[in-house]
Amino acid sequence: MHDPIRNIKESLLSDLNERMSTECTCTLKETATRPVPGDGSACATILLIGEAPGKNEDLQGVPFVGAAGKFLDEMLASIGLDRKDIYITNIVKYRPPDNRDPLPQEIEDCAEWLHEQIGIIDPLLIVTLGRHAMNHFFPDKKITEAHGNAYRREFPAGRSQVFYTLYHPAAALYNGGMRDTLKQDFLRIPKVLEKLRSGA
Ligand code: URA
Repeated sequence: MHDPIRNIKESLLSDLNERMSTECTCTLKETATRPVPGDGSACATILLIGEAPGKNEDLQGVPFVGAAGKFLDEMLASIGLDRKDIYITNIVKYRPPDNRDPLPQEIEDCAEWLHEQIGIIDPLLIVTLGRHAMNHFFPDKKITEAHGNAYRREFPAGRSQVFYTLYHPAAALYNGGMRDTLKQDFLRIPKVLEKLRSGA
């Protein structure tokens, strides 16, 4: 069906991806194979933000396609969603060498693209995966205390956004306790959305 808003958002995202690959100043570009901008629906209600592309993502140019991505797909299915219903991206758009943690400067250099993505998609809820994504928006929070909670953050120009903070699927993959906690936290996403939709 013809949806003018979707067409506009898709075209803005595709323009953004083009500019990201030519204009991004992040030095990770020098060692990465390609940018990994994001994947999913430009009209998504939920925007998921991970940490950084890994080896498989770097090869394919798509986020969360490895083992952590498979686990994420299972959790999406547990709440009746799949990739085409959401949008998924990372705080840094290029793979760090040897999958090391992204450095503060790299996060800062990629931030303009992330914030543009948020502006275009304008999701009802942002779900952060892991401490790096969470600390980008909430520098003082600890993931062990914050996981499974929703927080509102004000942005300039009177904009505000609700975030739901989760453990990272890669960290939880081989840690039984964290894995169960993440799955439980994930199952609460529909309730958080329901509350937001009802204006609570
Ligand atoms: N981990 C992330 O944080 N992002 C990916 O794209 C893949 C694994």
